[in-house]
Amino acid sequence: MRAETSFRGIIQRPFQRCEETFDLFFGGRHNPLRHLGALGMFLLWIVVGSGIYLYIVIDTGVAQVHESIGTITREHWYFGGILRSLHRYASDAFMLVMGLHLVREYAYGRYTGFRFYSWITGVPLIWLAFASGIGGYWIVWDQLAQFSAIATTELLDWLPIFSEPSARNFLTPESVSDRFFTLLVFIHIGLPILLLAALWTHVQRIAHVDHLPSRSLMLGSTAALLVLSLIRPALSDAPANLAVVPAETRLDWFILFLHPLTDLAGPGITWGLLFGFTALLLALPFLGRSRQPAVAAVDPANCNGCSRCQVDCPYAAITMAPHPQRDGYRIAIVDEGLCASCGICAGSCPSSTPFRSQERLVTGIDMPQLPVDSLRAELEARLADLRGETRVVVFGCAQGARAETLAGPDTAVLELLCVGMLPPSFVEYALRTGADGVMVASCRQGGCDYRLGERWTIERLTRQREPALRGRIPAERLDAVFVSANDDRALAEALEKFRTRLRSLPAAGETLQPYLRRTSHHA
Ligand code: HEM
Ligand code: SF4
Ligand code: SF4
Repeated sequence: MRAETSFRGIIQRPFQRCEETFDLFFGGRHNPLRHLGALGMFLLWIVVGSGIYLYIVIDTGVAQVHESIGTITREHWYFGGILRSLHRYASDAFMLVMGLHLVREYAYGRYTGFRFYSWITGVPLIWLAFASGIGGYWIVWDQLAQFSAIATTELLDWLPIFSEPSARNFLTPESVSDRFFTLLVFIHIGLPILLLAALWTHVQRIAHVDHLPSRSLMLGSTAALLVLSLIRPALSDAPANLAVVPAETRLDWFILFLHPLTDLAGPGITWGLLFGFTALLLALPFLGRSRQPAVAAVDPANCNGCSRCQVDCPYAAITMAPHPQRDGYRIAIVDEGLCASCGICAGSCPSSTPFRSQERLVTGIDMPQLPVDSLRAELEARLADLRGETRVVVFGCAQGARAETLAGPDTAVLELLCVGMLPPSFVEYALRTGADGVMVASCRQGGCDYRLGERWTIERLTRQREPALRGRIPAERLDAVFVSANDDRALAEALEKFRTRLRSLPAAGETLQPYLRRTSHHA
């Protein structure tokens, strides 16, 4: 994603830099900043798993719960105690990861158009997550629980929805009954279940969702949480005593920051901030909406219903329906509201091959703003103009490093909407039509603006995914480089290296001769 010059840009640039620094240590696949949604899901599973265990073993009577949790923490510290700490720290980490995920999606402008649904369904998750977290602190029924419960109900009392102030319930020992406490436990279990259901909804319009991060990232984050649990086990304060105002307690700033805010600003301003922030998040997709680029278009005569485009589409924008012109065949249908205009489907379609002898190359699914026919025409024109010892074609990505800066007498650059738009047959075509080498400049791993472009491209070029690059093309004449929008220099250096490598190879004609003979029926 190229940097913005707006307010978003101020957030985007440092975020991007952090991601790239993390890449150095973790690599794209295991970089937590590139997989925040999946990491959030994983943390939630830790919270749910440890929570189920705690619910089974603790006595949830109001008089017993504090002692019961204390026993687990002290006497079964090696299992129950650790699980309790994991439950707390995974909840904190979940809040942090959710916040970072929100900021990241905002910073990269991922809240309008086809992402409207993902963004809007993300907003209630914040409320559900905090409500679940705050409720969790009450279950312990210690001084912190008492403080949090009173502070929350005072906040709620400010809203004109309760006939009599509910905070009063917490001010006398008689009013907090076992029944009331069972209700609290029920809420603390019910809200996370709602959160899980809301999360399921949140990712409904995305295909190939990263439900979990890489195994290393899971192991690493679990290990970090375990170490924290051992070094700083989660403990309770003294038991709640409703006869006295709770003393100073240690706050959990990830979950309970609303309480000091209410203390400082008062309930009116706190609600104002909460509703204002929520309204702003909900309004964002409507503010400064830009015109949607043209969406993918299907050509019935060239669609054979193979469904590769449907499988590869990152936003589940394609469905298959009976073909209107061919009995027994299916056809791809694009939902305009879901289409990200990434062009990845054009790269998947078997009809997108430039070797077809039609004068005008019409493929099954194409992008009106950059049809494969014009891509082929441009490639042919640029190849005809190339001069020099090592003629290289670079396929770049409009979202990534500026490949156009490499253009020169011996370098032709073709910029795609997303690198995933590249049908591998174009690589072969370029090599057979005069290029000495082809370089594919993809975004860094996990950094594709359309989620899957980089992944599918590499799988296609390494023949793990259809349409695959044909096995007979000389591998040494192809180079794939992974660069972000900040990596213009790295891209230029990669091209220089590639060129040096090409110079040490036999002449392209010689290398390609055996292959050309086998496929001589092609243009
Ligand atoms: C409760 C915590 C959350 C979790 C666990 C979560 C999880 C996820 C996951 C797994 C994805 C799919 C990522 C992928 O496979 O590429 C995703 C996408 C997304 N999330 Fe969240 N999410 C959460 C909260 C939020 C919030 C609060 C917002 C914003 C209001 C948000 C906005 C988005 C957007 C816009 C996408 C789509 C990204 C794209 O199209 O590339 N999420 N989320
Ligand atoms: S352009 Fe992208 S989002 Fe639209 S249908 Fe094709 S693959 Fe799906
Ligand atoms: S990949 Fe091409 S041929 Fe296959 S279903 Fe999609 S549009 Fe039709």
